[in-house]
Amino acid sequence: MKSEIHNIVILTGAGVSAESGIDTFRSEGGLWEQHRIEDVATPEGFSRDPDLVLRFYDMRRAAIQTKRPNPAHQALARLDAEWPGELLIVTQNVDDLHERAGASRVLHMHGEHLNAWCIACDTRSPWTKSLIERPPCPACNARALRPDVVWFGEMPYRMDEIYAAMARADLFVSIGTSGAVYPAAGLVRNAREIGIQTLELNLERSQGSQWFHATRLGPASEVVTGWVEEMLS
Ligand code: OAD
Repeated sequence: MKSEIHNIVILTGAGVSAESGIDTFRSEGGLWEQHRIEDVATPEGFSRDPDLVLRFYDMRRAAIQTKRPNPAHQALARLDAEWPGELLIVTQNVDDLHERAGASRVLHMHGEHLNAWCIACDTRSPWTKSLIERPPCPACNARALRPDVVWFGEMPYRMDEIYAAMARADLFVSIGTSGAVYPAAGLVRNAREIGIQTLELNLERSQGSQWFHATRLGPASEVVTGWVEEMLS
C-alpha cells in the first residue's frame, strides 16, 4: 500500500494531545462533562455571559502553555519533515502542540487558543494572556476581542483548502478523534467517495469507524509512532 501513496491528509483530535495532559471533550470526566456546551462553546452562550466564556478560555489558554508535545506530535512532525509528497495535518485541536513539536503543514479548522479575534476589525492577533479584562485590539484598539475558537453553530475554518487537499490525497488518516463533530467527522466518508485509502488510529473505535479500511487501537504515543516509522521505512 505504501508505495502507491504520495499525498496524505491527517485529521487529528483531542486524543493526540491527551497524553500531554490536555483533557479530551467526550471521555469520562472530559470537558463536556464538566461544562455545558451551550454555556461555553456557542455564540449564544457568549452573548448571555461573556465573563463566563472568557474565563473558561483564559484558563485553557494558560493551561496549554504549561503542556508539552508528546511522542505522537513528535512522530507527526517527523513525518511532516521527511515525507516527500504532499501532507496536511488538519487538526481540530486549538492547542499549538503540533507546531511546537516542529510540524509546519498544519491547518487549525477549529481555530487556535493562542489567537485573539477582534470582532470589530476582524483582525486575528497572537495572544498568550487573558481576555477577561477586555484588553484593546492591537490593530484597532476596540475592546472587542474574543477567543479565536470555532463554537457550535459557527463555520469551521478553511474547509475549501481541506477538501482540495483531500481531492489530491491517496491516504486519509484519522487520529484521536471521536467522530462526533461535523464536518470533520464526515471527512472519512468524503475519502471513501473519492476512493482513497482510509486508516483510523485511536484509543477506541470512533463513531464512524466502519468507514475506515483499517483501524489500529492504542494510545497515540504508541500507534502513531509505529505507523510513522512504517511510512518512513
Ligand atoms: P473527543 O473528546 O470527542 O474524542 C477524543 C478521542 O480521543 C476519543 O475517540 C478517545 O477514544 C481518543 N483518545 C483519548 N485518549 C487517547 C490517546 N491517549 N490516544 C489516542 N486516542 C485517544 O475529541 P474530538 O474528537 O477532538 O470542537 O472532538 C471534536 C471536537 O468536539 C473538538 O474539536 C471540539 C469539541 O467540541 C469544538 O470545540 C468546535
